[in-house]
Amino acid sequence: MLEARDLRSRIEPGPGPVKVIAVTGGKGGVGKTTVTANLAVSLAERGREVMVLDADLGLANLDVMLGLQPRYNLSHVLAGERSLDDVLVDGPSGIKIIPASSGVRRMVNLNTMEQAGLIRAFSDLRRNVDVLLLDTAAGIHEDVLMFARAAHHVLVVVCDEPASLTDAYALIKVLSRDMGVSRFRILANQTRVLGEGRDLYDKLHKVCDRFLDVTLDYAGAIPQDEFVRRSIQRQKAVVELYPGSLGGQSFKKLAATADSWGTPVGASGHLEFFVERLVLGRPGVSSLQ
Ligand SMILES: Nc1ncnc2c1ncn2[C@@H]1O[C@H](COP(=O)(O)OP(=O)(O)O)[C@@H](O)[C@H]1O
Ligand SMILES: [Mg+2]
Repeated sequence: MLEARDLRSRIEPGPGPVKVIAVTGGKGGVGKTTVTANLAVSLAERGREVMVLDADLGLANLDVMLGLQPRYNLSHVLAGERSLDDVLVDGPSGIKIIPASSGVRRMVNLNTMEQAGLIRAFSDLRRNVDVLLLDTAAGIHEDVLMFARAAHHVLVVVCDEPASLTDAYALIKVLSRDMGVSRFRILANQTRVLGEGRDLYDKLHKVCDRFLDVTLDYAGAIPQDEFVRRSIQRQKAVVELYPGSLGGQSFKKLAATADSWGTPVGASGHLEFFVERLVLGRPGVSSLQ
């Protein structure tokens, strides 16, 4: 029987290492998709080749937010009907989006042949990708955990609501206890006053320090900004539409921060190996600095 790992020796590694960042948060509505879209565009504007995997089944997903109309999604790749290249959608500033949609829950529950097929589909994609962003769903479903586990960096989006903090804590707890993720980057979103982001981080840090064995880094704050809301209504990224707004500037700062996060070295950093880790349920290198 063909095993996914047997395939590894037969695939040529892709063009270069890819930094995989999972955007998570536990609670819905905190701004995961907004952050993913704007971080993606800001990184692209900094010269990175960016790909986004829309791994959220929710309604307000990435293609809606960016006004895109994908014809196919990852389930067509899984069915062997389309190549990954056919499924990719062009977004602003040259970002590429993989609409996963209905395929995403299945992605972490594939049989061996399907696993091999998916790894092959990614290794056939002979594109240079510097950063892969994963926009994950709300909650602590298995797929969210698997995506976060296979990523190199886990960005946890929180806002100043008790439910957001408790959900973020629950997510961090499960990821560290069951998935071996030990490092988290905390981004405060929809902040209303200066210092609110740091305060949120401190609160989360305190409770995590007390009960869990994890490292938390502060990734910054994105203010609540009318221009962010308005750009979402117009189905554009705020960094595109209102680059000079407070929100736009903060996303650019976040992209500069994300650029400083470590990129994996060696073959394990290649795109197909991320997919292999994902489908085989293996950890990434969440300890990357
Ligand atoms: N920084 C922000 N400023 C203003 N509104 C925001 C901001 N971030 C998110 N929002 C609002 O919150 C809503 C939900 O955001 P979304 O990114 O869809 O959350 P999630 O993906 O976590 O469910 C958006 O439609 C937008 O109206
Ligand atoms: Mg979302």
